[in-house]
Amino acid sequence: MHRVGVVGGGLMGSGIAEVCARSGCDVVVVETDASTAERALGRITSSLDRGVRSGKVSEDDRDRAIAGIRLTTDAAELADRTLVVEAVIEDEATKLAVFRRLDDVVTDPAAILATNTSSIPVMKLGIATSRPAHVIGIHFFNPVPVLRLVELVPSLLTDEETIARAGSFATDVLGKRVIRSQDRAGFVVNALLVPYILSAIRMMESGFATADDIDLGMVEGCNHPMGPLHLADLIGLDTTMAIADSLYAEFKEPLYGAPPLLARMVEAGLLGRKSGRGFFTY
Ligand SMILES: NC(=O)c1ccc[n+]([C@@H]2O[C@H](COP(=O)([O-])OP(=O)(O)OC[C@H]3O[C@@H](n4cnc5c(N)ncnc54)[C@H](O)[C@@H]3O)[C@@H](O)[C@H]2O)c1
Repeated sequence: MHRVGVVGGGLMGSGIAEVCARSGCDVVVVETDASTAERALGRITSSLDRGVRSGKVSEDDRDRAIAGIRLTTDAAELADRTLVVEAVIEDEATKLAVFRRLDDVVTDPAAILATNTSSIPVMKLGIATSRPAHVIGIHFFNPVPVLRLVELVPSLLTDEETIARAGSFATDVLGKRVIRSQDRAGFVVNALLVPYILSAIRMMESGFATADDIDLGMVEGCNHPMGPLHLADLIGLDTTMAIADSLYAEFKEPLYGAPPLLARMVEAGLLGRKSGRGFFTY
């Protein structure tokens, strides 16, 4: 059995924990305190309950998955893990601290230390440890139980065995589809997606069109499952802004610059779905 650790049980970490547990892994999730740990477990449980209601998950599988997940606030409980996926907030200093801690606590020298970062160089996280050859980006998509894509992002120092093992974990164990990307901010999907979302925000900010019309335009005109502003709300406006900032820092292209409206909304705590209000109200 794979012994998986997940650091950060937010939107993504709880989804990653869920899919790993549903695939038969033993999962330990580390959160910052008891209340965030409880929220993470609540998110996982309600997602599995939704799966049961829609007929995609059996009651037995839900119960087995929940029994396979342990929440903790003590990173030392990751000591025996063979794979750890970091999914804390998109903040470089926070992630660097997590990787230094993982390097200290994870005892198996062959364990893979993965990051779900959307835009922070995998290399920076790798060299924060004494084992950059085993550090890799495994970038999942939201909602993790629904979207099949995983971007596999080795740094220049990641070894071939780690790339192969991480890839086969994603495909053979989790049933995901994998694409490879070089270690560049945004990887493949966000480097294309984020400028599109930022353009929609600029369009709305300038009064060019309303939020409803922009989203309806892309849903009905391009057959997208949701419009760019709903998508920004789903990703989280704080995360969207953090990714834009990393892309801008990497490429220095104006198209990656966060529009002032996005910055004001994040400062106001209007973070999208997770806070109940963003471009739309939930
Ligand atoms: N939201 C998306 O659509 C999406 C998609 C792909 C990748 N990502 C990436 O996944 C990561 C997490 O994003 P999210 O949307 O889940 O954010 P989130 O804000 O929902 O969750 C982050 C969680 O990390 C926890 N946390 C913070 N510091 C911690 C620490 N030191 N130890 C343990 N837990 C800690 C927080 O309590 C919170 O629950 C980010 O790197 C983001 O870029 C996000």
